[in-house]
Order: sequence, then C-alpha cells, then structure tokens
Amino acid sequence: MTRPRVFVTSKIPEEGLKILYENFDVEVSDHDGLIPKGILVEKVKGIDALLCLLADVIDKEVMEAAGPRLKVIANYAVGYNNIDVEEATKRGIMVTNTPGVLTETTADLTWALMMAVARRIVEGDKFVRAGKFRGWEPMLLLGTDLYGATLGIIGFGRIGQAVARRAIGFKMKVLYYSRSRVSEEIERELNATYVDLNTLLKESDFITLHLPLTKQTHHLIGEDQFKLMKKGAYLINTARGPIVDEKALVKALEEKWIRGAALDVFENEPQVEPELLELENVVLAPHIGSASHATRTKMSIMAAENIVKALKGEIPPNLVNTEILKNK
Ligand code: NAP
Ligand code: GLV
Ligand code: GLV
Repeated sequence: MTRPRVFVTSKIPEEGLKILYENFDVEVSDHDGLIPKGILVEKVKGIDALLCLLADVIDKEVMEAAGPRLKVIANYAVGYNNIDVEEATKRGIMVTNTPGVLTETTADLTWALMMAVARRIVEGDKFVRAGKFRGWEPMLLLGTDLYGATLGIIGFGRIGQAVARRAIGFKMKVLYYSRSRVSEEIERELNATYVDLNTLLKESDFITLHLPLTKQTHHLIGEDQFKLMKKGAYLINTARGPIVDEKALVKALEEKWIRGAALDVFENEPQVEPELLELENVVLAPHIGSASHATRTKMSIMAAENIVKALKGEIPPNLVNTEILKNK
C-alpha cells in the first residue's frame, strides 16, 4: 500500500519530522529560506497533508494545486492568518495550529522586549561595544521603571494572560481589553481590570498586543490610537505586524507622541520600515517569540501529531476550522 504523502515547507526540529517519517512518505523542502510560491504549488501536487510555516501563504491557488487528496494543513504556529481557512473549510480541508505550547515562551519574549526598551539595553550594549563606557554616570541612559507601572494588555487569551501573570511580581496595575471578558476568578488571580480600548490606551505606561490578525484587528493601532497614548508610553508587539499601522508608529516615535516601542513582528515581514532602523527608542527582534529549543521541539511534535490524527480519519487535537465537522 502506498503511504500518504506529506510535504513540509521547511526543515523543523527532528522530533516532529521523525513522527512524520514513521508514518508517511515525507518530503521536506530544502529551499534556503521561505519557499517561493512557484515551487510550493509544484511541490504540493497530489499530497495528503501539508506542514507549513506562518509566512507561507496558503491560499486557494495552493489548495487548488494540491488537488482533492489534501486533507489537512498543519501550521507550525499558533497564528494562522497565513491560511485561507474559509477556502479550506469549503474544500473539506482541516486546518490545525500549535496553541499552548508556545504561550510561556512568547510571554517571556514579550517581557524581554518590554524590559529591553524601558531600560535601554540595546542602546547600552551598542554603547559598551563602541568603547564609549567611561564609568558610572548620573545621567547615563536613564529609562523608565516597570515596577509599579500600568500595563495595558490588548487581547487577553493564552499569551495575554501569561504576560499578566508575570506582572504580579512587578506590582504593576494591569488593564486589559479583549473581545470577551474573562471570569472574575481569572481577573482576581491575575489582578487584571477590564476596560474599553480607549481607556486602556489613555491610562497605560506599557501597551502590549496579544490578538490574532483578522479583518477586525488589522490596523487596530493607528494614528488616532497613538494620539490617545501617554507621551511616556511604550508599545510592545509580539502578535502580528499588521495589527499596527507601521507608518503611524514611525510618526508617533519620531514626533514623540510615545516614548518607545519594541517589536517582534512587522507589517510587511521580513521588511521593516526603514525609519524604524534609524530610531534609538525602538527594539527590534526577528519574530522569535516562540524561539526556544524546548518550545520549537514541542511545536514540531504537535504539528506532526495533528497530521497523523487527521490522516487516520480522526479529529486532530488542534483543529481550527471545527465547523468542518458539521459537514461530515
Ligand atoms: P488566543 O489564546 O486565541 O488569544 C487571543 C485573544 O485575542 C483572545 O482573548 C481573543 O478573544 C482576542 N481577540 C480576538 N479577536 C479580537 C478582536 N477583534 N478584538 C479584541 N480581542 C480579540 O491566542 P494566543 O495563543 O494568545 O496567541 C495570540 C497571537 O499571538 C496569535 O494569534 C499569534 O498571531 C501571536 N503569536 C506570536 C508569536 C511570536 O512569535 N511573536 C508567538 C505566538 C503567538 P476571544 O477570547 O473572544 O477569542
Ligand atoms: C508565531 O508567531 C505563532 O503564531 O506561533
Ligand atoms: C550603583 O551601582 C549603585 O551602587 O547605586
């Protein structure tokens, strides 16, 4: 019997690949960097499952090119805005993601960025390397305290709440805005207060984004929102670039409507607004929110197991388009 065929768009940790090799006929792209669309549509022909990265755009064209055998698209990420889920559902293709295993790792990175920008760590590092350090100085690289400050969390799901939990140790006042309010019990446990978006923008010293990218959240933060923020505020984005209007962010930073920003994600990744590269009050990271050895290993296993279950005809544990089950 021929084994089902799986195409993996990039090398991922071997623990996940091992599961796939044991069960399927697997091809892993050896393309250096993101697989170009032209190669992707060739490679997916006749496959049963696709394991893809968050930057692979999986649209109608790719699904059409794959053909009727394709049963599951397993994203190697929790965010799945790169996949046309509606189209997949129409075609009876299951879409899966990797929630939970990366929550704490991404929350850690959010804090690393927040502390780095508030305490000017990157500027300090450059300063030392440039041989400019002459000794302790009263006015050298003064920053902003996190301890006791107000933290505004936009999007209060798994990662947003994990960020809030860390704020308890810093005795921060935590405000949150999200589509749905969490239970009073969680609010109490995380010492978090639900407010509307404008209140959060006006009152927070640090504002951090933890929403998925959807039609509703695209450019949620633009000029009007930056104008509401405190002059001393910082924006942290480890969610998705297009949630922030990056040109408006540049303006807000250049004209000092806010004090700084720290970004792990960009509107047109991997491109970055050139002005951001020139600004001192911005910390930039190359989309490494989930990038710990342990977490990337867990993500690879999770994505592979989603494929195993789906191709066995079972419901994969991390099915995104659950409405597909109604049509079965
Ligand atoms: P999650 O648990 O689904 O949390 C998302 C939260 O956003 C939920 O509370 C959700 O509300 C809320 N939300 C959704 N749409 C909204 C809207 N239009 N307005 C207000 N709130 C809205 O997801 P997660 O695991 O925390 O991940 C969040 C995002 O982080 C992912 O989608 C991904 O894009 C990003 N991420 C980035 C990295 C990185 O490497 N930088 C790593 C991991 C994740 P409901 O409770 O009503 O659904
Ligand atoms: C990373 O950005 C993810 O969505 O997992
Ligand atoms: C700083 O190093 C201090 O001792 O205050």
